[in-house]
Amino acid sequence: IVTALAPKRLSGRKVLITAGPTFEPIDPVRGITNLSSGKMGYAIARAAREAGAEVTLISGPTGLAAPHGVNRIKVVTAQQMHDAVMARVAGHQVFIGVAAVADWRVAEVSAQKIKKKDGHDVPQLKFEQNPDILAAVAALPSPPYCVGFAAESEELLRHGEEKRRRKRTPLLVGNIGPQTFGLDDNELILFDEQGQTHFPRADKQSLARSLIDEIARRLGG
Ligand code: CTP
Ligand code: CA
Repeated sequence: IVTALAPKRLSGRKVLITAGPTFEPIDPVRGITNLSSGKMGYAIARAAREAGAEVTLISGPTGLAAPHGVNRIKVVTAQQMHDAVMARVAGHQVFIGVAAVADWRVAEVSAQKIKKKDGHDVPQLKFEQNPDILAAVAALPSPPYCVGFAAESEELLRHGEEKRRRKRTPLLVGNIGPQTFGLDDNELILFDEQGQTHFPRADKQSLARSLIDEIARRLGG
């Protein structure tokens, strides 16, 4: 009874989360994406909701069902994800960037399907850089508490702390991708100004709850 009546750790807080991959079109039938499944971001959205937060989840294409009680907004491209985040971030106390946002988009998207031509004439794609959503949120005049994610293929310990500083986020969560993409288990390392905290291998929903506990503690909740 006591636990049922106790206020939840994120009651009254608004949490904004990005999740999943983005999809960057080449032409009407093709595009570039990545191996993010969205499972970690959705698990974090569910855990934040369980902790009493009002949760908005800006999601790239995943095929996952929206967690119960979470306001999910579907987007496709990194630019759309950026615009959806920036339009809503005001009034949020926490921003968690879990999405695997495409770093580049195709500079000139063809309005028609690009046709195959015989011989050597293969298409040459030009790219331009997408906006950095996490950096844009962290650079706001009074930003929410910002949490970044990093999937590194090697040297996670070095890249994690370097990325935390570069992104100017108080907390950065590292995982060893892409081996864990799409799986139900993961293993996390939290980087903050105190140092590193290791969450050993567990299912993504348990890890998400532990992460939300850490965030609530840092907010003083
Ligand atoms: N991120 C973002 N917008 C982007 C790129 C990344 O919001 N255009 C966020 C991700 O959601 C993640 C964090 O930034 O929380 C780190 O993403 P990552 O791809 O690891 O870092 P980058 O700065 O893009 O560096 P690199 O890919 O070269 O390692
Ligand atoms: Ca990147």
